[in-house]
Order: sequence, then structure tokens, then C-alpha cells
Amino acid sequence: MQDIHKSVQDYYGTELQQSEDLQTNACCTLSAPPAHIKSALDNVHEEVQSKYYGCGLTIPRELEGLKVLDLGAGSGRDCYIAAQLVGETGRVVGVDMTIAQVEVAKKHEEWHRERFGYEASNVEFLLGNIEELDKLDLKKNSFDLIISNCVINLASNKEKVLKDAFELLKPGGELYFSDVYSDRRIPEKLQKDSVLWGECLSGALYWNDFLTLAKPSGFNDPRAVESEPITIENEALEAKVGNIQFYSVTYRLFKLEELEGACEDYGQAARYKGTVENAENGFTLDDHHYFERGKIIPVCGNTYRMLAETRFSEHFECYGDWSTHYGIFEGCGGEMPFHSAEAEVSGSDTSCC
Ligand SMILES: C[S@@+](CC[C@H](N)C(=O)[O-])C[C@H]1O[C@@H](n2cnc3c(N)ncnc32)[C@H](O)[C@@H]1O
Repeated sequence: MQDIHKSVQDYYGTELQQSEDLQTNACCTLSAPPAHIKSALDNVHEEVQSKYYGCGLTIPRELEGLKVLDLGAGSGRDCYIAAQLVGETGRVVGVDMTIAQVEVAKKHEEWHRERFGYEASNVEFLLGNIEELDKLDLKKNSFDLIISNCVINLASNKEKVLKDAFELLKPGGELYFSDVYSDRRIPEKLQKDSVLWGECLSGALYWNDFLTLAKPSGFNDPRAVESEPITIENEALEAKVGNIQFYSVTYRLFKLEELEGACEDYGQAARYKGTVENAENGFTLDDHHYFERGKIIPVCGNTYRMLAETRFSEHFECYGDWSTHYGIFEGCGGEMPFHSAEAEVSGSDTSCC
């Protein structure tokens, strides 16, 4: 474990000086951010931006006033975006184990405070290991939201990261993170390749192992929000990984103890009021739940809880109760929840839950 940490610290602290130094496109965000994130990004210092190595959009909706923790915050790009969206009453804490990255993040704290027009900075950066979150000065049940961008794949004890994250979240809180996943388990030989590991490829979890790992950590029903195939774009490394397909996926996992292992039908429904900022026409919960404003949509018990028992509750009218169970929610499946570019072209469908 020490070896992996040392080599990751060297990779992000010394070898890479800026995003352009990456050898593959695994740690690159391929899709364009929505307008409100783009505006927030305009207020992030260019040195912070130049050392961004994330693979997805880890900033969900409805952040005003929240307390947010960023696991593997790097030079702080996502923290400084979140700091604007939580506002002055919110707070953002970033944790990273690479000194050089944390130094860059801290160096620009005052610059961002001034830029945001805040009286006091609402961001804090801690040097620490996300596999030992329980050893940091962080209170259990104290965060509304935990984000992470292309980091958990680099951790050797991923289950510990998830377990500690669950403990740190308030009930109804959310772990919303982007990371790299594979369509099969990565052979040990590749896991020992420090460049493949550093590039966020060979530490990637096989997607079904991630789902298996998430459940005992307390996160019973992980929901994929967005996914994108990773093309690597480096011939030598492509040859090494062979037929393994990699995906950048953003998952949302709620701390809701009563979520069930499968989507069950209790005859419930939800109607979106159109009141989430920057999502007036419709709200995306995940890659198979888009709630158009005003439309009543049947939902499974787990989705009902994700809307009725979280920060989204004020934005939904939720109908029904738990008195009658009608069986499994129709359309739920256990197949791979994201698809290669080829499958997308051939029109393959995603599963319900
Ligand atoms: C691919 S970079 C992403 C950084 C940042 N999230 C971003 O989007 O720019 C991975 C980061 O995770 C950090 N990291 C990896 N393993 C870690 C661990 N066990 N504890 C704390 N930080 C870790 C590295 O130091 C590095 O800054």
C-alpha cells in the first residue's frame, strides 16, 4: 500500500505538472459542463485549472448552504467551483495526500475569497489519506455531500473509502463522484504498472465489483448519472490493456439506510415542481430518471426515498405510501449499466435500475 501511495504521490506531485502531461485521456473530462458550472469555472484561478486531472462532472444540483467534502481534491478545482455554489453559508473541505497539489490549492485560497466577494473563505484543504478518513479531524454525520473526481480508483482499499464516506455523511446525504470503471477485472500484472495505475486505468474497479462493494458500505442502490467510454489515445498503453474497456462514470449514492437491494414497486409516484435552480424544465436524478416539470411519474420505492428523504424533497410532490407491495419495479435489470461507443451507435438501451 505504501508503494502505491508513494508512486501516486510522485505521479501527481512531480511527474505531472499540468493536465497536458497526462499520457492518456482517462483523467480528462470529455463532456462540456453546463452553463452554471462554466460560469463558476471562470472564477477559478488558472494555476488551479492547469492541474486539474478529473474525469467527470462531480457537481450535482442544489448546493446552496451545504457542507461538502472533496476526496482527492488535487489542486482544488472542484472545491472552488463548489465553494461558489454552496454560497457563503456553505463550506467545502478538500482532502488530498499529495503535498504539491494541496500547496497549490491552499496558495490561492485568498485569491478566490476575494474573487467570490466573501467575507471569510468557505474552503479548507487538508493533507491526508482518504483511506484513513476516520483518522482526520472530520465529524461523523456532518457532511451533506461528498464529491470525488477520478480518485477512488487510485486507492488500494476502496471499500474503506466508501465505508468512511458513509459514516461522514448526514442521513439523507449523498456521495456523488466520477471515476474510472472497467468492463472486467484488471489482471494483477497490469495493476503493478505504475503508469497505468497513475493514469487511473489499472486501479479501476470492474463495475459489478463496485456495486458489490458499495452495498456493505451502506450504499444500497448506487445510481449511474453519466457515463462515457474512455478511448485511452496512447498506442503503447492500449496494447498493454488489450480488450479491457474503460468508462468514466459518475455515480450518486445516497445515505438512506432503508434503501432496498432492488427496486421494488409500491405504486408510488413523484411530480417535479421545477424549482431546482438551473433545472427549471426538468430534473435528472440519474441516467434513467428524468423528471419533466409538472409530470407525474411512477417510481420505485428507492427512487421515492431519494426524492422524498433528501435535500430534493422540497422540489417534489411524492405520492403513495408503503402499504402495498406490487412486486419488482418493472424494467429493473442487472446488466452492465453503461455501454461502449459501438453499443451506443447500434442503439442499445440502458436498464431501468
Ligand atoms: C486524478 S487526480 C484528480 C485530482 C482532482 N480530483 C482533480 O479533479 O483534479 C487524483 C488525485 O487523488 C489523490 N489521491 C490518490 N489517492 C489518494 C489517497 N489515498 N488519499 C488522498 N488523496 C489521494 C492524488 O494525490 C491526486 O491529487
